[in-house]
Amino acid sequence: MERIAIACDHGGYELKEMIAGFLDSQEVGVIDCGTDSTESVDYPIYGKKCAEMVASGEADRGIVVCGSGIGISIAANKVKGIRCALCTSEEMAELSRKHNNANMLALGARTTDPVTAMNILIKWYNTEFEGGRHQRRVDMLDEM
Ligand code: RB5
Repeated sequence: MERIAIACDHGGYELKEMIAGFLDSQEVGVIDCGTDSTESVDYPIYGKKCAEMVASGEADRGIVVCGSGIGISIAANKVKGIRCALCTSEEMAELSRKHNNANMLALGARTTDPVTAMNILIKWYNTEFEGGRHQRRVDMLDEM
C-alpha cells in the first residue's frame, strides 16, 4: 500500500481534509502531519514535518498545502532529497511527475479553487516518472 504524508497550515486546512478524503478512497495509507484546525500556525513547521516523512522513507510521497502553496513548498524543498512542486494546473502536475519525479506536491488553497486543486492532485497522483533523459537531471538535483 502506498503511504502518502500530508500537511498544511491554517490556510490549507480545509483543502488538506478534502485531499485526505480522496486518498482514503484510493486505499492509500495517509500519514497526517497536521495541522488539525484553521487556528493560525507556522507553515515551515508542517512543511518540514511532511518532507522529513518522505525523505526518511516513512512515506512514499507527500502533499502540502498553505494559502499560496509558496511558503510550505519552500520549507519542504529545504529537506535533502525532496523535490516539491507547487502546481497551479494539471499540466504542471503531470510535468512535475514525468520530468522531475516530484516526490511532493504543493497546493495553494487561497490561489487555486478546490475543483482545480483536486484535479491537479488526481493528475499528480496518477502520473509516473518517465525516467530516461530526465533521470540524470533529477540525480543532479539530489546531489545539491
Ligand atoms: C498564512 O497567512 C499564509 O502566509 C500562508 O498560508 C502561505 O500563503 C505562505 O506562503
